[in-house]
Amino acid sequence: MKPFDIVIVGGGGAGLYAAMEAMKTNPALNIAVLSKVYPNRSHTSAAQGGANAALANTAKDDTVELHIFDTIKGSDYLADQDAVEILCSEAPKIIRELDNIGTPWSRLEDNTIAQRPFGGAGRPRCCYCADKTGHTILQTLYEQCLKKGVFFFNEYFALQLSVNGSRMKGLIALNIKTGKVEAFPARTVVFATGGYAKMYWNRSSNAAGNTGDGQAIAYRAGIPLKDMEFVQFHPTGLRKSGLLVTEGARGEGGYLVNAAGERFMSRYAPEKMELGPRDLVSRSIETEILQGRGFDSPAGKYVHLDLTHLGADLIMSRLPQIREMSMYFEGVDPIEEPIPVRPTAHYSMGGIDTDNFGRTVMDGVYAAGECACVSVHGANRLGGNSLLDILVFGRLAGRTAAEEARRFEPAQIGAEELKDTEAALRSYMRPSGHFERYGTLREELGQTLGMNVGIYREASKIRKGIEDLAALSERFRHIRVFDTSDIFNTNLLQVLELKNMLDLAETVASGALAREESRGSHTRTDFPVRDDEKWHKHTLATLDRNGVRLGEKPVSMGRYELQERTY
Ligand code: FUM
Repeated sequence: MKPFDIVIVGGGGAGLYAAMEAMKTNPALNIAVLSKVYPNRSHTSAAQGGANAALANTAKDDTVELHIFDTIKGSDYLADQDAVEILCSEAPKIIRELDNIGTPWSRLEDNTIAQRPFGGAGRPRCCYCADKTGHTILQTLYEQCLKKGVFFFNEYFALQLSVNGSRMKGLIALNIKTGKVEAFPARTVVFATGGYAKMYWNRSSNAAGNTGDGQAIAYRAGIPLKDMEFVQFHPTGLRKSGLLVTEGARGEGGYLVNAAGERFMSRYAPEKMELGPRDLVSRSIETEILQGRGFDSPAGKYVHLDLTHLGADLIMSRLPQIREMSMYFEGVDPIEEPIPVRPTAHYSMGGIDTDNFGRTVMDGVYAAGECACVSVHGANRLGGNSLLDILVFGRLAGRTAAEEARRFEPAQIGAEELKDTEAALRSYMRPSGHFERYGTLREELGQTLGMNVGIYREASKIRKGIEDLAALSERFRHIRVFDTSDIFNTNLLQVLELKNMLDLAETVASGALAREESRGSHTRTDFPVRDDEKWHKHTLATLDRNGVRLGEKPVSMGRYELQERTY
Protein backbone atom coordinates (compact mmCIF):
# COMPACT_ATOMS: atom_id res chain seq x y z
CA MET A 1 0.00 0.00 0.00
CA LYS A 2 1.20 3.53 -0.77
CA PRO A 3 2.19 5.27 2.49
CA PHE A 4 -0.33 7.67 3.98
CA ASP A 5 0.70 11.10 5.19
CA ILE A 6 -1.48 10.66 8.26
CA VAL A 7 -3.19 7.61 9.71
CA ILE A 8 -5.67 8.53 12.44
CA VAL A 9 -6.67 5.66 14.71
CA GLY A 10 -10.19 6.22 16.04
CA GLY A 11 -13.32 7.66 14.43
CA GLY A 12 -14.79 9.50 17.43
CA GLY A 13 -14.86 13.26 17.90
CA ALA A 14 -11.09 13.71 18.38
CA GLY A 15 -10.19 11.55 15.37
CA LEU A 16 -12.73 13.16 13.07
CA TYR A 17 -11.85 16.69 14.12
CA ALA A 18 -8.18 15.84 13.57
CA ALA A 19 -8.97 14.49 10.09
CA MET A 20 -11.12 17.50 9.14
CA GLU A 21 -8.51 19.97 10.34
CA ALA A 22 -5.63 18.11 8.70
CA MET A 23 -7.48 18.21 5.37
CA LYS A 24 -8.13 21.89 5.85
CA THR A 25 -4.47 22.56 6.70
CA ASN A 26 -3.21 20.75 3.61
CA PRO A 27 -5.80 19.36 1.18
CA ALA A 28 -3.04 17.61 -0.77
CA LEU A 29 -2.40 15.17 2.07
CA ASN A 30 -3.41 11.55 1.95
CA ILE A 31 -5.32 10.98 5.20
CA ALA A 32 -6.88 7.79 6.54
CA VAL A 33 -9.09 7.19 9.56
CA LEU A 34 -9.13 3.64 10.92
CA SER A 35 -11.92 2.70 13.28
CA LYS A 36 -12.96 -0.57 14.88
CA VAL A 37 -16.61 0.50 14.58
CA TYR A 38 -18.42 2.69 12.08
CA PRO A 39 -17.45 6.24 13.10
CA ASN A 40 -21.00 7.30 13.85
CA ARG A 41 -21.16 4.52 16.46
CA SER A 42 -18.08 5.74 18.31
CA HIS A 43 -18.39 6.39 22.03
CA THR A 44 -18.57 10.16 21.44
CA SER A 45 -22.16 9.45 20.47
CA ALA A 46 -22.86 8.52 24.10
CA ALA A 47 -21.80 11.96 25.41
CA GLN A 48 -25.07 13.43 26.56
CA GLY A 49 -24.61 16.63 28.51
CA GLY A 50 -22.65 19.09 26.39
CA ALA A 51 -19.46 21.07 25.88
CA ASN A 52 -18.34 24.03 27.99
CA ALA A 53 -17.58 27.41 26.44
CA ALA A 54 -17.75 30.86 27.98
CA LEU A 55 -20.16 32.22 25.36
CA ALA A 56 -21.96 34.27 28.04
CA ASN A 57 -25.34 33.56 26.45
CA THR A 58 -27.11 32.26 29.56
CA ALA A 59 -24.96 34.08 32.17
CA LYS A 60 -23.93 37.42 30.73
CA ASP A 61 -21.02 37.80 33.15
CA ASP A 62 -19.25 34.55 32.19
CA THR A 63 -15.66 34.85 30.95
CA VAL A 64 -12.90 32.61 29.59
CA GLU A 65 -10.92 33.46 32.70
CA LEU A 66 -13.65 32.02 34.97
CA HIS A 67 -13.72 28.86 32.83
CA ILE A 68 -9.94 28.54 33.21
CA PHE A 69 -10.15 28.94 36.96
CA ASP A 70 -13.03 26.45 37.36
CA THR A 71 -11.09 23.89 35.31
CA ILE A 72 -7.88 24.28 37.30
CA LYS A 73 -9.69 24.17 40.63
CA GLY A 74 -11.75 21.19 39.41
CA SER A 75 -8.53 19.38 38.48
CA ASP A 76 -7.34 19.75 42.10
CA TYR A 77 -4.49 21.86 40.70
CA LEU A 78 -2.93 19.01 38.75
CA ALA A 79 -3.87 20.28 35.28
CA ASP A 80 -1.18 22.02 33.25
CA GLN A 81 -2.22 25.64 33.26
CA ASP A 82 -0.89 26.54 29.80
CA ALA A 83 -2.94 23.69 28.32
CA VAL A 84 -6.07 24.75 30.22
CA GLU A 85 -5.64 28.25 28.85
CA ILE A 86 -5.68 26.85 25.30
CA LEU A 87 -8.72 24.65 26.07
CA CYS A 88 -10.85 27.46 27.47
CA SER A 89 -9.82 30.26 25.11
CA GLU A 90 -10.44 28.10 22.04
CA ALA A 91 -13.83 26.95 23.38
CA PRO A 92 -16.08 29.80 22.13
CA LYS A 93 -14.47 29.65 18.66
CA ILE A 94 -14.85 25.92 18.30
CA ILE A 95 -18.50 25.90 19.41
CA ARG A 96 -19.24 28.58 16.80
CA GLU A 97 -17.29 26.66 14.17
CA LEU A 98 -19.46 23.60 14.86
CA ASP A 99 -22.53 25.81 14.70
CA ASN A 100 -21.42 27.07 11.28
CA ILE A 101 -20.97 23.57 9.91
CA GLY A 102 -24.37 22.37 11.07
CA THR A 103 -24.40 21.11 14.67
CA PRO A 104 -28.01 21.59 15.86
CA TRP A 105 -27.37 23.25 19.26
CA SER A 106 -30.35 23.82 21.56
CA ARG A 107 -31.27 27.51 21.51
CA LEU A 108 -32.42 30.24 23.90
CA GLU A 109 -35.43 32.42 23.14
CA ASP A 110 -33.15 34.97 21.42
CA ASN A 111 -31.83 32.15 19.19
CA THR A 112 -28.35 32.11 20.71
CA ILE A 113 -26.83 28.77 21.77
CA ALA A 114 -28.38 27.56 25.05
CA GLN A 115 -26.16 26.81 28.04
CA ARG A 116 -27.00 24.81 31.18
CA PRO A 117 -25.30 24.60 34.59
CA PHE A 118 -22.83 21.73 35.05
CA GLY A 119 -20.90 20.46 38.07
CA GLY A 120 -18.00 22.49 39.45
CA ALA A 121 -18.68 25.44 37.13
CA GLY A 122 -19.27 28.93 38.47
CA ARG A 123 -21.62 29.84 35.60
CA PRO A 124 -24.02 27.95 33.30
CA ARG A 125 -21.69 27.44 30.33
CA CYS A 126 -22.40 23.96 29.00
CA CYS A 127 -23.66 24.17 25.38
CA TYR A 128 -25.93 21.25 24.50
CA CYS A 129 -28.16 19.57 21.97
CA ALA A 130 -30.90 18.26 24.32
CA ASP A 131 -29.21 15.20 25.89
CA LYS A 132 -27.64 13.93 22.64
CA THR A 133 -24.79 16.40 22.22
CA GLY A 134 -22.00 13.97 21.35
CA HIS A 135 -24.20 12.18 18.83
CA THR A 136 -24.98 15.37 16.92
CA ILE A 137 -21.37 16.57 16.94
CA LEU A 138 -20.19 13.21 15.63
CA GLN A 139 -22.66 13.26 12.73
CA THR A 140 -21.60 16.79 11.79
CA LEU A 141 -17.90 15.91 11.78
CA TYR A 142 -18.40 12.65 9.87
CA GLU A 143 -20.24 14.48 7.09
CA GLN A 144 -17.45 17.02 6.83
CA CYS A 145 -14.75 14.35 6.64
CA LEU A 146 -16.63 12.48 3.89
CA LYS A 147 -17.08 15.74 2.01
CA LYS A 148 -13.38 16.59 2.26
CA GLY A 149 -12.16 13.23 1.00
CA VAL A 150 -10.78 11.51 4.09
CA PHE A 151 -10.31 7.75 3.47
CA PHE A 152 -12.20 5.62 5.98
CA PHE A 153 -11.16 2.12 6.96
CA ASN A 154 -14.07 1.03 9.13
CA GLU A 155 -14.02 -2.17 11.18
CA TYR A 156 -10.25 -2.32 11.42
CA PHE A 157 -8.70 -3.17 14.79
CA ALA A 158 -5.34 -1.48 15.47
CA LEU A 159 -2.72 -3.97 16.63
CA GLN A 160 0.65 -2.25 16.84
CA LEU A 161 2.92 0.49 15.63
CA SER A 162 5.62 -0.64 13.27
CA VAL A 163 8.85 0.82 14.62
CA ASN A 164 12.41 0.35 13.49
CA GLY A 165 14.76 1.71 16.17
CA SER A 166 13.39 5.19 16.78
CA ARG A 167 11.75 5.32 13.34
CA MET A 168 7.96 4.95 13.26
CA LYS A 169 6.90 3.36 9.95
CA GLY A 170 3.14 3.13 10.35
CA LEU A 171 0.46 0.94 11.82
CA ILE A 172 -0.47 -2.73 11.63
CA ALA A 173 -4.17 -3.52 11.90
CA LEU A 174 -6.57 -6.43 11.65
CA ASN A 175 -9.27 -6.20 9.00
CA ILE A 176 -12.22 -7.41 11.05
CA LYS A 177 -14.24 -8.29 7.95
CA THR A 178 -11.63 -10.62 6.45
CA GLY A 179 -9.35 -11.60 9.34
CA LYS A 180 -6.31 -10.41 7.35
CA VAL A 181 -3.53 -8.48 9.03
CA GLU A 182 -2.78 -5.37 6.95
CA ALA A 183 -0.05 -2.73 6.87
CA PHE A 184 -0.74 1.00 6.91
CA PRO A 185 2.63 2.59 6.19
CA ALA A 186 2.44 6.23 7.31
CA ARG A 187 4.57 9.29 7.87
CA THR A 188 2.51 10.11 10.97
CA VAL A 189 0.02 8.28 13.19
CA VAL A 190 -2.50 10.07 15.42
CA PHE A 191 -4.10 8.04 18.23
CA ALA A 192 -7.66 9.11 19.06
CA THR A 193 -9.00 5.86 20.44
CA GLY A 194 -10.91 7.05 23.53
CA GLY A 195 -10.67 5.98 27.15
CA TYR A 196 -10.07 2.85 29.21
CA ALA A 197 -12.83 3.04 31.85
CA LYS A 198 -14.55 -0.05 30.46
CA MET A 199 -11.95 -2.07 32.37
CA TYR A 200 -14.33 -1.55 35.32
CA TRP A 201 -16.75 -3.72 33.32
CA ASN A 202 -20.31 -3.64 34.64
CA ARG A 203 -19.65 -0.61 36.80
CA SER A 204 -18.90 1.64 33.85
CA SER A 205 -20.77 4.07 31.65
CA ASN A 206 -18.42 3.27 28.77
CA ALA A 207 -19.14 1.47 25.52
CA ALA A 208 -17.86 -2.11 25.30
CA GLY A 209 -15.10 -0.93 22.98
CA ASN A 210 -13.52 1.60 25.36
CA THR A 211 -10.65 -0.69 26.15
CA GLY A 212 -7.70 1.68 25.88
CA ASP A 213 -6.39 0.22 22.61
CA GLY A 214 -4.38 3.30 21.58
CA GLN A 215 -2.85 3.77 25.01
CA ALA A 216 -1.85 0.09 25.18
CA ILE A 217 -0.27 0.17 21.70
CA ALA A 218 1.67 3.33 22.54
CA TYR A 219 2.77 1.94 25.92
CA ARG A 220 4.06 -1.28 24.37
CA ALA A 221 5.96 0.83 21.81
CA GLY A 222 7.75 2.67 24.62
CA ILE A 223 5.67 5.87 24.80
CA PRO A 224 4.95 6.93 28.40
CA LEU A 225 1.43 7.13 29.84
CA LYS A 226 0.66 9.98 32.22
CA ASP A 227 -1.49 10.07 35.40
CA MET A 228 -3.10 6.68 34.76
CA GLU A 229 -4.27 6.37 38.38
CA PHE A 230 -6.93 9.05 37.85
CA VAL A 231 -10.16 7.36 36.81
CA GLN A 232 -13.33 9.40 37.08
CA PHE A 233 -16.49 7.92 38.55
CA HIS A 234 -19.56 9.76 37.29
CA PRO A 235 -22.01 10.21 40.17
CA THR A 236 -25.11 9.04 38.32
CA GLY A 237 -24.91 5.76 36.48
CA LEU A 238 -28.08 3.68 36.22
CA ARG A 239 -28.10 1.19 39.08
CA LYS A 240 -28.18 -2.02 37.02
CA SER A 241 -26.20 -1.23 33.89
CA GLY A 242 -23.91 1.64 34.94
CA LEU A 243 -25.11 3.61 31.89
CA LEU A 244 -24.83 7.37 32.08
CA VAL A 245 -27.53 9.67 33.41
CA THR A 246 -26.22 13.04 32.34
CA GLU A 247 -25.13 15.69 34.82
CA GLY A 248 -27.48 17.81 32.72
CA ALA A 249 -30.30 16.16 34.73
CA ARG A 250 -28.93 17.83 37.86
CA GLY A 251 -28.08 20.93 35.81
CA GLU A 252 -31.79 21.19 34.98
CA GLY A 253 -32.65 20.96 38.69
CA GLY A 254 -32.65 17.23 39.60
CA TYR A 255 -32.01 16.29 43.26
CA LEU A 256 -30.09 13.44 44.88
CA VAL A 257 -32.01 11.83 47.73
CA ASN A 258 -31.07 9.02 50.15
CA ALA A 259 -33.27 6.35 51.74
CA ALA A 260 -34.06 8.71 54.64
CA GLY A 261 -35.51 11.18 52.13
CA GLU A 262 -32.66 13.67 52.66
CA ARG A 263 -31.03 15.83 49.97
CA PHE A 264 -27.75 14.63 51.40
CA MET A 265 -25.48 16.85 49.28
CA SER A 266 -26.10 19.60 51.85
CA ARG A 267 -23.69 17.65 54.09
CA TYR A 268 -20.87 17.62 51.53
CA ALA A 269 -21.23 20.69 49.28
CA PRO A 270 -23.60 23.12 51.01
CA GLU A 271 -23.19 25.78 48.36
CA LYS A 272 -23.05 23.79 45.13
CA MET A 273 -25.23 20.91 46.33
CA GLU A 274 -25.83 18.46 43.42
CA LEU A 275 -23.66 20.61 41.17
CA GLY A 276 -20.45 20.00 43.04
CA PRO A 277 -17.60 18.51 40.99
CA ARG A 278 -17.90 14.84 40.07
CA ASP A 279 -15.25 13.47 42.41
CA LEU A 280 -17.00 15.08 45.39
CA VAL A 281 -20.53 14.05 44.39
CA SER A 282 -19.45 10.45 43.67
CA ARG A 283 -17.68 10.19 47.03
CA SER A 284 -20.77 11.62 48.73
CA ILE A 285 -23.08 9.02 47.17
CA GLU A 286 -20.61 6.24 47.99
CA THR A 287 -20.39 7.45 51.60
CA GLU A 288 -24.18 7.55 51.97
CA ILE A 289 -24.34 3.99 50.71
CA LEU A 290 -21.41 2.76 52.86
CA GLN A 291 -22.93 4.37 55.96
CA GLY A 292 -26.24 2.61 55.39
CA ARG A 293 -28.33 5.47 54.05
CA GLY A 294 -28.72 4.07 50.53
CA PHE A 295 -31.56 1.95 49.16
CA ASP A 296 -30.99 -1.77 48.78
CA SER A 297 -31.99 -4.09 45.95
CA PRO A 298 -30.88 -7.41 44.43
CA ALA A 299 -29.13 -5.31 41.77
CA GLY A 300 -27.10 -3.46 44.41
CA LYS A 301 -27.27 -0.40 46.61
CA TYR A 302 -28.22 2.99 45.21
CA VAL A 303 -29.64 6.46 45.82
CA HIS A 304 -32.40 8.34 44.01
CA LEU A 305 -32.05 11.01 41.35
CA ASP A 306 -35.38 12.79 41.53
CA LEU A 307 -36.59 14.72 38.48
CA THR A 308 -40.31 14.45 39.15
CA HIS A 309 -40.63 18.13 40.16
CA LEU A 310 -39.20 19.25 36.78
CA GLY A 311 -42.38 18.32 34.94
CA ALA A 312 -43.08 16.34 31.80
CA ASP A 313 -42.44 19.20 29.34
CA LEU A 314 -38.89 19.89 30.51
CA ILE A 315 -38.00 16.20 30.78
CA MET A 316 -39.32 15.43 27.31
CA SER A 317 -37.68 18.41 25.61
CA ARG A 318 -34.30 18.53 27.35
CA LEU A 319 -33.78 15.04 28.74
CA PRO A 320 -35.63 12.73 26.33
CA GLN A 321 -32.89 10.12 26.18
CA ILE A 322 -32.61 9.95 29.97
CA ARG A 323 -36.32 9.22 30.16
CA GLU A 324 -36.05 6.55 27.50
CA MET A 325 -33.03 4.88 29.12
CA SER A 326 -34.59 4.97 32.61
CA MET A 327 -37.72 3.32 31.29
CA TYR A 328 -35.84 0.76 29.25
CA PHE A 329 -33.08 -0.21 31.68
CA GLU A 330 -34.70 0.44 35.08
CA GLY A 331 -38.43 0.24 34.36
CA VAL A 332 -38.87 3.73 35.80
CA ASP A 333 -40.46 6.78 34.13
CA PRO A 334 -38.64 9.81 35.59
CA ILE A 335 -41.73 11.97 35.06
CA GLU A 336 -43.45 9.84 37.70
CA GLU A 337 -40.69 8.31 39.85
CA PRO A 338 -37.06 8.91 40.90
CA ILE A 339 -34.27 7.13 39.00
CA PRO A 340 -32.10 4.59 40.91
CA VAL A 341 -28.45 5.63 40.44
CA ARG A 342 -24.95 4.92 41.74
CA PRO A 343 -21.47 6.11 40.68
CA THR A 344 -20.06 4.52 37.54
CA ALA A 345 -16.54 4.48 36.01
CA HIS A 346 -16.83 7.09 33.31
CA TYR A 347 -13.64 8.77 32.20
CA SER A 348 -9.89 8.30 32.00
CA MET A 349 -8.02 11.40 33.06
CA GLY A 350 -4.77 9.55 32.34
CA GLY A 351 -3.48 8.67 28.91
CA ILE A 352 -0.69 9.03 26.37
CA ASP A 353 1.64 11.81 27.45
CA THR A 354 1.55 14.62 24.87
CA ASP A 355 2.56 18.23 24.58
CA ASN A 356 -0.05 20.92 23.91
CA PHE A 357 -0.05 20.09 20.19
CA GLY A 358 -0.56 16.35 20.47
CA ARG A 359 3.08 15.33 20.00
CA THR A 360 4.37 12.33 21.94
CA VAL A 361 8.02 11.49 22.65
CA MET A 362 8.13 9.37 19.47
CA ASP A 363 8.67 11.31 16.22
CA GLY A 364 5.62 11.11 13.99
CA VAL A 365 3.26 9.81 16.70
CA TYR A 366 0.53 12.07 18.09
CA ALA A 367 -2.48 11.58 20.36
CA ALA A 368 -5.64 13.52 21.17
CA GLY A 369 -8.88 13.22 23.10
CA GLU A 370 -9.52 10.85 25.97
CA CYS A 371 -6.68 8.53 24.98
CA ALA A 372 -4.22 11.41 25.50
CA CYS A 373 -3.20 13.24 28.64
CA VAL A 374 -2.25 16.81 27.73
CA SER A 375 -3.15 17.44 30.73
CA VAL A 376 -6.21 19.68 30.97
CA HIS A 377 -8.18 17.65 33.50
CA GLY A 378 -5.51 16.85 36.09
CA ALA A 379 -6.95 14.78 38.92
CA ASN A 380 -10.63 15.40 38.14
CA ARG A 381 -12.32 16.50 34.92
CA LEU A 382 -15.26 18.87 34.98
CA GLY A 383 -18.38 17.68 33.19
CA GLY A 384 -18.61 19.32 29.76
CA ASN A 385 -14.83 19.62 29.39
CA SER A 386 -14.48 16.23 27.67
CA LEU A 387 -16.31 17.04 24.45
CA LEU A 388 -14.44 20.31 24.51
CA ASP A 389 -11.10 18.54 24.93
CA ILE A 390 -11.68 16.22 21.95
CA LEU A 391 -12.63 19.16 19.76
CA VAL A 392 -9.86 21.57 20.74
CA PHE A 393 -7.03 19.07 20.98
CA GLY A 394 -8.30 16.90 18.12
CA ARG A 395 -8.08 19.97 15.96
CA LEU A 396 -4.60 20.91 17.23
CA ALA A 397 -3.23 17.39 16.79
CA GLY A 398 -4.66 17.18 13.26
CA ARG A 399 -3.18 20.54 12.34
CA THR A 400 0.23 19.71 13.82
CA ALA A 401 0.39 16.31 12.13
CA ALA A 402 -0.56 17.95 8.82
CA GLU A 403 2.13 20.60 9.20
CA GLU A 404 4.80 18.10 10.19
CA ALA A 405 3.93 15.00 8.11
CA ARG A 406 6.13 15.76 5.15
CA ARG A 407 9.17 16.11 7.43
CA PHE A 408 9.10 12.35 7.92
CA GLU A 409 10.23 10.12 5.08
CA PRO A 410 7.72 7.42 4.15
CA ALA A 411 8.77 3.85 4.88
CA GLN A 412 7.34 0.43 4.05
CA ILE A 413 6.30 -2.24 6.51
CA GLY A 414 7.85 -5.61 5.64
CA ALA A 415 5.80 -8.73 4.83
CA GLU A 416 7.72 -10.62 7.53
CA GLU A 417 6.35 -8.33 10.24
CA LEU A 418 2.80 -8.94 9.04
CA LYS A 419 3.33 -12.69 9.00
CA ASP A 420 4.67 -12.64 12.57
CA THR A 421 1.72 -10.57 13.74
CA GLU A 422 -0.75 -12.92 12.08
CA ALA A 423 0.98 -15.93 13.67
CA ALA A 424 0.72 -14.27 17.10
CA LEU A 425 -3.04 -13.88 16.61
CA ARG A 426 -3.41 -17.48 15.46
CA SER A 427 -1.57 -18.69 18.55
CA TYR A 428 -4.58 -17.64 20.66
CA MET A 429 -6.59 -20.32 18.84
CA ARG A 430 -4.62 -23.10 20.55
CA PRO A 431 -6.52 -26.31 20.01
CA SER A 432 -5.69 -28.22 23.20
CA GLY A 433 -4.16 -28.15 26.68
CA HIS A 434 -5.09 -26.08 29.71
CA PHE A 435 -7.04 -23.00 28.73
CA GLU A 436 -8.72 -19.89 30.13
CA ARG A 437 -11.87 -18.19 28.87
CA TYR A 438 -12.23 -14.54 27.94
CA GLY A 439 -15.49 -14.10 29.87
CA THR A 440 -14.08 -15.34 33.17
CA LEU A 441 -10.96 -13.18 33.08
CA ARG A 442 -12.93 -10.15 31.95
CA GLU A 443 -15.38 -10.48 34.83
CA GLU A 444 -12.57 -10.92 37.37
CA LEU A 445 -10.71 -7.89 36.02
CA GLY A 446 -13.76 -5.70 36.55
CA GLN A 447 -14.40 -7.16 40.02
CA THR A 448 -10.91 -6.61 41.37
CA LEU A 449 -10.64 -3.09 39.98
CA GLY A 450 -14.06 -2.14 41.37
CA MET A 451 -13.27 -3.58 44.80
CA ASN A 452 -9.62 -2.60 45.15
CA VAL A 453 -8.93 0.39 42.90
CA GLY A 454 -12.32 2.12 42.94
CA ILE A 455 -13.57 5.37 44.45
CA TYR A 456 -12.04 4.77 47.90
CA ARG A 457 -8.55 3.26 47.88
CA GLU A 458 -6.01 2.14 50.47
CA ALA A 459 -2.62 0.44 50.28
CA SER A 460 -3.64 -3.09 51.33
CA LYS A 461 -6.53 -3.16 48.87
CA ILE A 462 -4.50 -1.75 45.99
CA ARG A 463 -1.79 -4.36 46.69
CA LYS A 464 -4.46 -7.04 46.52
CA GLY A 465 -5.58 -5.54 43.21
CA ILE A 466 -2.02 -5.64 41.87
CA GLU A 467 -1.65 -9.30 42.92
CA ASP A 468 -4.94 -10.15 41.22
CA LEU A 469 -3.87 -8.36 38.04
CA ALA A 470 -0.56 -10.24 37.96
CA ALA A 471 -2.46 -13.52 38.37
CA LEU A 472 -4.89 -12.57 35.60
CA SER A 473 -2.02 -11.68 33.26
CA GLU A 474 -0.42 -15.03 33.99
CA ARG A 475 -3.72 -16.80 33.27
CA PHE A 476 -4.12 -14.76 30.09
CA ARG A 477 -1.11 -16.66 28.71
CA HIS A 478 -3.44 -19.65 28.46
CA ILE A 479 -6.41 -17.84 26.94
CA ARG A 480 -8.17 -19.67 24.15
CA VAL A 481 -10.05 -18.13 21.25
CA PHE A 482 -12.69 -20.73 20.48
CA ASP A 483 -13.82 -19.22 17.21
CA THR A 484 -11.22 -20.13 14.61
CA SER A 485 -12.87 -18.39 11.67
CA ASP A 486 -11.53 -15.31 9.91
CA ILE A 487 -14.66 -13.30 9.33
CA PHE A 488 -15.85 -11.07 12.16
CA ASN A 489 -14.08 -13.06 14.83
CA THR A 490 -15.45 -11.16 17.82
CA ASN A 491 -14.00 -13.68 20.26
CA LEU A 492 -10.51 -12.79 18.99
CA LEU A 493 -11.27 -9.06 19.24
CA GLN A 494 -12.44 -9.45 22.83
CA VAL A 495 -9.24 -11.25 23.72
CA LEU A 496 -7.10 -8.54 22.12
CA GLU A 497 -9.08 -5.89 24.00
CA LEU A 498 -8.66 -7.81 27.23
CA LYS A 499 -4.88 -7.87 26.75
CA ASN A 500 -4.94 -4.07 26.30
CA MET A 501 -6.98 -3.60 29.46
CA LEU A 502 -4.78 -5.92 31.52
CA ASP A 503 -1.66 -3.99 30.52
CA LEU A 504 -3.30 -0.66 31.32
CA ALA A 505 -4.90 -1.85 34.58
CA GLU A 506 -1.40 -2.51 35.91
CA THR A 507 -0.45 1.12 35.26
CA VAL A 508 -3.65 2.35 36.97
CA ALA A 509 -3.07 0.24 40.09
CA SER A 510 0.68 0.99 40.27
CA GLY A 511 0.05 4.73 40.02
CA ALA A 512 -2.68 4.45 42.66
CA LEU A 513 -0.36 2.65 45.07
CA ALA A 514 2.51 5.06 44.53
CA ARG A 515 0.47 8.24 44.95
CA GLU A 516 0.26 8.49 48.72
CA GLU A 517 -2.19 11.36 48.95
CA SER A 518 -5.81 12.17 48.05
CA ARG A 519 -6.32 14.42 45.07
CA GLY A 520 -9.37 14.73 42.82
CA SER A 521 -10.73 11.34 41.85
CA HIS A 522 -7.91 9.51 43.67
CA THR A 523 -9.02 9.11 47.30
CA ARG A 524 -6.69 7.21 49.62
CA THR A 525 -8.37 6.53 52.97
CA ASP A 526 -4.87 5.93 54.40
CA PHE A 527 -3.60 9.27 53.03
CA PRO A 528 -6.72 11.44 53.18
CA VAL A 529 -5.01 14.78 52.58
CA ARG A 530 -3.62 16.32 49.41
CA ASP A 531 0.16 16.43 49.73
CA ASP A 532 1.45 19.19 47.48
CA GLU A 533 4.98 18.94 48.74
CA LYS A 534 5.45 15.34 47.64
CA TRP A 535 2.75 14.82 45.03
CA HIS A 536 2.08 17.97 43.11
CA LYS A 537 3.39 16.23 40.00
CA HIS A 538 2.29 13.93 37.20
CA THR A 539 3.18 10.26 37.18
CA LEU A 540 4.61 8.70 34.01
CA ALA A 541 4.25 4.96 33.44
CA THR A 542 6.69 3.27 31.07
CA LEU A 543 6.84 -0.39 30.22
CA ASP A 544 10.11 -2.15 30.94
CA ARG A 545 11.21 -5.77 31.18
CA ASN A 546 9.71 -6.12 34.69
CA GLY A 547 6.43 -4.39 33.93
CA VAL A 548 5.45 -0.83 34.88
CA ARG A 549 8.21 1.64 35.73
CA LEU A 550 6.95 4.87 37.29
CA GLY A 551 8.57 8.22 36.67
CA GLU A 552 7.31 11.76 37.13
CA LYS A 553 6.86 15.06 35.35
CA PRO A 554 6.34 18.55 36.79
CA VAL A 555 2.98 20.32 36.56
CA SER A 556 3.06 23.40 34.40
CA MET A 557 1.87 26.24 36.65
CA GLY A 558 0.66 29.68 35.62
CA ARG A 559 -1.34 32.41 37.25
CA TYR A 560 -3.11 30.22 39.78
CA GLU A 561 -1.35 29.28 43.00
CA LEU A 562 -2.23 26.09 44.85
CA GLN A 563 -5.26 26.59 47.08
CA GLU A 564 -7.49 24.51 49.28
CA ARG A 565 -10.38 23.21 47.18
CA THR A 566 -13.82 23.75 48.74
CA TYR A 567 -17.30 23.93 47.19
O1 FUM B 1 -22.97 14.03 32.48
C1 FUM B 1 -22.71 14.09 31.29
O2 FUM B 1 -23.50 14.42 30.44
C2 FUM B 1 -21.35 13.79 30.90
C3 FUM B 1 -20.65 14.75 30.38
C4 FUM B 1 -19.21 14.67 30.41
O3 FUM B 1 -18.68 13.62 30.81
O4 FUM B 1 -18.55 15.66 30.10
